[in-house]
Amino acid sequence: MSQVTALIVAAGSGSRMGGDVPKQFRLLAGTPVLRRAVQALIGHPRIDAVRVVIGTGQQQLAADALAGLEVGELIVGGKERADSVRAGLEAVGVGIVLIHDAARPSCPPDVIDRLLEALAAADGAVPVLPVADTLAKGDRELRGTVSRTQLLRVQTPQAFHAEDLLFAMEEAGSSAATDESTVMQNAGLRVATVAGDEMLHKLTGARDWERSEMMLASQMTSRTGMGFDVHAFEGPGPLVMGGIQIAHEHGLAGHSDADVVLHAITDALLGAAALGDIGQHFPPSDPQWKDASSDRFLVHAADLIRYRGGVIDHVDCTVICEAPKIGPHRAPMQARVADILGLAAERVSIKATTTERLGFTGRGEGIAAQAVVTIRLPA
Ligand code: CTP
Ligand code: MG
Repeated sequence: MSQVTALIVAAGSGSRMGGDVPKQFRLLAGTPVLRRAVQALIGHPRIDAVRVVIGTGQQQLAADALAGLEVGELIVGGKERADSVRAGLEAVGVGIVLIHDAARPSCPPDVIDRLLEALAAADGAVPVLPVADTLAKGDRELRGTVSRTQLLRVQTPQAFHAEDLLFAMEEAGSSAATDESTVMQNAGLRVATVAGDEMLHKLTGARDWERSEMMLASQMTSRTGMGFDVHAFEGPGPLVMGGIQIAHEHGLAGHSDADVVLHAITDALLGAAALGDIGQHFPPSDPQWKDASSDRFLVHAADLIRYRGGVIDHVDCTVICEAPKIGPHRAPMQARVADILGLAAERVSIKATTTERLGFTGRGEGIAAQAVVTIRLPA
């Protein structure tokens, strides 16, 4: 059987969507759109490889969006979509290709099955949907309706043999089509249709974005995690707590920087995702974590959640000690934790309490912190 390569074109500038960053690299319900598009295809049993075409200067954005996913070397595309597809085809060479828009974050696996089955009896196969709304001509006034019985909405992925599509694109010359099935038909090749899916909808304008976020949000489930940590006072201050330095007569003892707040929050995040605890991810016996800045632990836990398509909704931490007084440091800690997690400050809460001079915190032997977090993960 032929090798099947999914070729995801992500070299556009997303001008209709607007925003600082092209739409394919923006976070949709917590995960970059391009990452979602790749993840939807990479696990399919019939797909042997996924390759991604990006624009000049988009290397870093793409590398960040695709961290940890196996997509081979990124391919650099061109000015028009057709240029990007051609660059991708040249890099892939032969075999079956599934040309797919990075701007379509979801792809149900049975669409791929239908496409590959139809390709066995045609030169190409595309997913289509019927048109539901009444179609009409006109501008400010209606100028007659158009029969929709013969009209179809054409989606991607579109399946072809790489060499057929390259041939068809050469026949078309520089006339840039936004859709490969058109190019194939113009070259006299037969393109079959299979049932498309509403889940394949493309993100084009701001309204599409909202609709997609709502659809994805409805598929997430909420989870809560808790974390607890204690460090003893040792040696002279300052101490590090909530990612900031705090002047105090004592420091805190620990293998890393002993940031009791960040440790409790890290453990709460790992707990919410059922991913073990901080000691498993960063063993105190490992010399590389000696004196490590604990923001790395927190970033690691947040990344693990985001790589799973998750979103962090809220963080609440209580610091338990008699001294130092937490009040003056509350806002800077809140801002720093929010910054490390890439959240708005209003999603992070830092509170403090004493234990009325009771117990080890009451005797001033150390500081404890408790954290509770709420996250959402794909169901
Ligand atoms: N695309 C591409 N190379 C181009 C233009 C578009 O790889 N030169 C990709 C886009 O990244 C997208 C897909 O083709 O995944 C569909 O294109 P479209 O939705 O039009 O995206 P953009 O061209 O980025 O958006 P716009 O037309 O609004 O600028
Ligand atoms: Mg475009």
